[in-house]
Amino acid sequence: MNNTERIGQLKKDGILDPQDLGILLTSLTGEEEQYLYDAACEVRRENYGTDVYLRGLIEFSSYCRNNCLYCGLRRGNEHCERYRLQTDEILECAEQGYALGFRTIVLQSGEDLWYSDEKICSIVSKIKDRHPDIAVTLSIGEKSRASYQAYYDAGADRYLLRHETINAQHYALLHPQEMSRDNRIRCLYDLKEIGYQVGCGIMVGSPFQTVEHVVEDLLFMKEFGPQMVGIGPFIPHKDTPFRDRARGTLEDTLHLLAITRLMLPDVLLPATTALGTIDPRGREKGILAGANVVMPNLSPAPVREKYMLYDGKICTGDEAAECRRCMEQRIRSVGYQVVVSRGDWAGAGTE
Ligand code: 5AD
Ligand code: SF4
Ligand code: FES
Repeated sequence: MNNTERIGQLKKDGILDPQDLGILLTSLTGEEEQYLYDAACEVRRENYGTDVYLRGLIEFSSYCRNNCLYCGLRRGNEHCERYRLQTDEILECAEQGYALGFRTIVLQSGEDLWYSDEKICSIVSKIKDRHPDIAVTLSIGEKSRASYQAYYDAGADRYLLRHETINAQHYALLHPQEMSRDNRIRCLYDLKEIGYQVGCGIMVGSPFQTVEHVVEDLLFMKEFGPQMVGIGPFIPHKDTPFRDRARGTLEDTLHLLAITRLMLPDVLLPATTALGTIDPRGREKGILAGANVVMPNLSPAPVREKYMLYDGKICTGDEAAECRRCMEQRIRSVGYQVVVSRGDWAGAGTE
């Protein structure tokens, strides 16, 4: 089989032998690359047309109890400026997002136990009370099943928790001993069973990542069947143990986005901020490789530069309205349009 045939089969069947996936990830020529992106765009178009969904991201706390080796918010980073938004500030952000046409609000933070389950539930239910037509996505890390259930009962619709890597040895090289791949995966299955639309995902080019790992991740995602997949390049942060590591490349990220689109045709796939950070037109290129979601920043300007997962993060100086406008133009420039809608998973039958 050659690469064109591999892409054709992947598009037709949504799956490929591990060995062929590995070859696809490592040996694409420029021409084959374009063929892959075209296939991904076609599949994406069949499921979502040329619509791109907007998610308004509110980064409400930079405190984190974890010490992931790759992340600028890790608790061991003494240079990270910590902040917490109060409930009314979060609600105000959400309000502003609603006015700007966002119908999904993503509440993201480090793992910050200052926000009790009651507090999270109250924030979620207040947003839902004010705007029943908004979807609330949580991205606040590993919790007990009971906590996940409580947030869901309070009205949360979706949950993002990248699995980071399905390989336990690789997981252990990226995280301190007290964290485990098994608990991460337990969380993902709990979330799914409770009824959330769930997002998993990985960084591209994270330290120690091999092609075999990425193939394992693709097969895991195929089996797990997430509604959303977050994929962005690893970018080193100067105050972490991985400061001197190479970043993930634009090409590898775009290849993986396109392959993910072919394996999970109706998945909600963001062109991430990290992708926009390693290339000035990274997010547009992500859309052209099969992505269909963008997540402009809604956090209050004064806290933005404190939520530094990695060096050079873009959109730290802009107001919400500016990011919204900028994003709209960027998406239009590549022939797609942002839409004001909840943008649920196309398999859910809700839209
Ligand atoms: N580079 C790229 N992505 C990162 N994340 C954390 N640190 C980095 C980094 N240095 C990603 C992780 C996490 C998400 C919130 O941000 O995948 O799940
Ligand atoms: Fe905390 Fe998430 Fe960063 Fe890990 S990746 S240190 S859990 S904010
Ligand atoms: Fe934030 Fe362009 S999307 S400034």
